[in-house]
Amino acid sequence: MPDSAASSPSSSRRRILLTSALPYANGSIHLGHLLEHIQTDIWARFQRMRGHECYSVCADDAHGTPVMLKAQELGITPEEMVAQTRDEHHRDLLDFGIEYNNYYVTHSEENKQLCETVYNKLDAAGYISKRTISQLYDPEKQMFLPDRFVRGTCPNCGAEDQYGDSCDVCSATYSPAEMKNPRSVVSGATPILKDSEHYFFDLPQFESMLREWLSSGAVQTEMANKLNEWFEQGLQQWDISRDAPYFGFEIPNAPNKFFYVWVDAPVGYMASFLNFCASNDLNFDDFWQQGSDTELYHFIGKDITYFHCLFWPAMLEGAGYRKPTGVNVHGFVTVNGAKMSKSRGTFIKGRTYLDHLDPEYLRYYFASKLSENVTDIDLNFEDFAQKVNADLVGKVVNIASRCASFITKRFDGKLSETCADESLMNAFINASQSIAQRFEARQYHHAIREIMALADRANQYIDAQAPWVTIKDESLQAHTHAVCSLGINCFRMLVTYLKPVLPRLAQQAEAFLNDNLTWDSVKAPLYGHAIDKFKPMMQRVDMDKINAMIEDSKQSLSASEDSAPVPKKPPTSKIDPIAPTIEFDDFAKIDLRIALITKAEHVEGADKLLRLELDIGEQTKQVFAGIKSAYQPEQLEGKHTVMVANLAPRKMRFGLSEGMVLAAGPGGDDLYILEPHVGATPGMRVK
Ligand code: 2FM
Ligand code: ZN
Repeated sequence: MPDSAASSPSSSRRRILLTSALPYANGSIHLGHLLEHIQTDIWARFQRMRGHECYSVCADDAHGTPVMLKAQELGITPEEMVAQTRDEHHRDLLDFGIEYNNYYVTHSEENKQLCETVYNKLDAAGYISKRTISQLYDPEKQMFLPDRFVRGTCPNCGAEDQYGDSCDVCSATYSPAEMKNPRSVVSGATPILKDSEHYFFDLPQFESMLREWLSSGAVQTEMANKLNEWFEQGLQQWDISRDAPYFGFEIPNAPNKFFYVWVDAPVGYMASFLNFCASNDLNFDDFWQQGSDTELYHFIGKDITYFHCLFWPAMLEGAGYRKPTGVNVHGFVTVNGAKMSKSRGTFIKGRTYLDHLDPEYLRYYFASKLSENVTDIDLNFEDFAQKVNADLVGKVVNIASRCASFITKRFDGKLSETCADESLMNAFINASQSIAQRFEARQYHHAIREIMALADRANQYIDAQAPWVTIKDESLQAHTHAVCSLGINCFRMLVTYLKPVLPRLAQQAEAFLNDNLTWDSVKAPLYGHAIDKFKPMMQRVDMDKINAMIEDSKQSLSASEDSAPVPKKPPTSKIDPIAPTIEFDDFAKIDLRIALITKAEHVEGADKLLRLELDIGEQTKQVFAGIKSAYQPEQLEGKHTVMVANLAPRKMRFGLSEGMVLAAGPGGDDLYILEPHVGATPGMRVK
C-alpha cells in the first residue's frame, strides 16, 4: 500500500476504488452491517478530503436459494423483492451518512455480462471442469437442498434437529448425506440422493500466486496466517454451479445450471462500478485491468475471508484482471459483551436505531473502537452514552458554545486578527500529519484518541483564560477577543479532523463557521473572519432512548418472525416434553458437581464451542461446551455452575472434553447455564 498519508495530496493524487461486502437482499441492515459500512465510509471520506480520487461502491447481493425462497414466502417475484430491499437498504445506509458513489444490485445486466466474461475467460484458460456429484434433493419441492436447508439427527452424537453440515451440540462437521433422519426445511419431506453434473473452478492451480499475494501485505498478518492453514489442508476444486430452480444467472452453454451466488457477488463489485462509470465518464479498465496503478480495497467481515482472499483473487487472476491491493478484514459486533441477540433486544436493525438515536453517535462510537485488527467490537451502551456525551457534547461542541456567544455579542460576529497563543494553534495544526497517518492505517481509535487529547488541551486553555471573567474588564477586550477566536479556531480544526467520521456535525459547523473544511484547511486559521450565530449541534445521549430502542428491537423481531432471514428453523416448542421415567438408580449414576469456571476461552476454528476449565474441588476438568452463541468467555469466568463430572471423556477435534456443563433453553442465544445458590462451593455433589 503506498504510504501517502504523509504526502500532500497535490504531490501524488491516488486513484482508489473501495467496496463493502454486499448485503443479502433477504434481511434488514443491522448494527453488524453498519460497522463495516461506517468503516468504509470513513476511509472514503478521509481519502477524498485528502484530495485523492476515491470511489466507493456497493450493492445488494440478490441471488441464491434463501432469497428465492423468501420471495416465494412473501408471494412476490425475487426481482420485486430484491428491488424493494435494495431501496430499503440504500435508504438505511444514507440515513447513517454512508454515501456510496453507486449502490447497485447484483441482479443487473452489467453483472450478467461480466459474470459471463469472467467465466468464459476462465473456461478458455482451462480452469473449469465438470463432474457429477450426488446431493440431497427435496422430491416434493423438486430442488436440491443447500446444507443449511436440511435438518436431522447428528451422525456423531445423536443430537436431534441439527443442521445438515454441522452439529450444535458436539460440533462435528459432516455432509448432509451422512445425517440420520434428514428432512427438508423447505417442505418437511425426506430428501433423496440425486446425481447432477456440476461445474468446478480449479482453485489449486492458483496456490503459488495466492501464497505470494497473501504474503505481500494485502491482508492483515493474522488473516494471512489463518489462510495459510487452508493451504496446509490443501486447496480444493470449487463448485461454482447450482441447479434450477435457482435465482441467479444461467451459466453460458449450460442450460438450467446457474452461477453459485458467491461467483456473481464479488463480480457485482465490478458491475456496480461499471454502472457508475457509464454515467460518470470514467474508464472501467483503469481500475480493473492487470497492471493497473489504481488501488482496489475490499472491506469485509472475518466470516467471508475465504471467498475474498482465495476464490476472488484466483478468479481475477485466472480471467486476466488485477487483484485487490488490500482486503481489509474486521471482526464482529457484540452488544453489551454478548453476541447480538433477538430475545435480549440487542439484534438491532439500522432503522430501529434511527427511530431513536442520532446516527452520528454510532459513527463516532465505532470509530473510537475500530482498529486495523480483526478483533470483535463491543457496543456497550453505557460506554456509548458516556463516550458520546463526554467527548462530542462535553468536549468538542462545548468549545464552540463557550466562545461563540462572546464573539457574536461583543465582537460583532468577527474573529480576531491576531492569535492569542501560537503554540496551542501550532500544536493543533501540526497534529494533522499524525492524525492522517492514523486514518490511513485504519487505526481510527488512535485518530480519535489524538483528536480528543487536542480537545482537552483547548478546554484547559479556555478554563485557564476564563474569558467569561476577562470580558468584564474593558482593558482586556482585545485579549478576550483573541482567546475566544482561538477557541473557535481550535473547534474548527477538531471538526476538520472529525469530518470523515461526523459528516453532519461538520456540515453544521461549516454553516456556523462560514467555511468549507478540507484536510488542508487547518493550515490557514481564520482571522478577521465572520462567523454565524452558534446553534446547538448535538444532543446528549438519553439512556431512555437507548432502552426504548432495545424494547422496540425485541418487539419488532418477535412480532415479525416472518421477516427473519430464511432459512428458518422449523417451529419447535420452547418447552421440551418430559422424557420417559427412569429409576432412581439410573439417576444416582450421574455425578453432578458444583464447578467454578476458572477459565473460559474461544476455540480456534469452532463456531459453537467455548473451552472451559472447571474447578471441582479435588481436580480441574476441561469441557468444550456448545454455548458460544449465548456467552462471551469473559461473562463466564468466575461463575459457578453444575457439571456432569463422571461422563466418559470424549475426544473432540479440539481436544478432550471431560464432562458437560448444564444449561437450559432451546438453544442459540436463548441458552442459560445453571448457577447454584450462594453457599454451594466447587466440588460439592448435587443430589
Ligand atoms: O456474507 C454476505 O453477507 C454476502 N452477501 C457478502 C457478499 S460480498 C461480495 F462478495 F459480494
Ligand atoms: Zn453431534
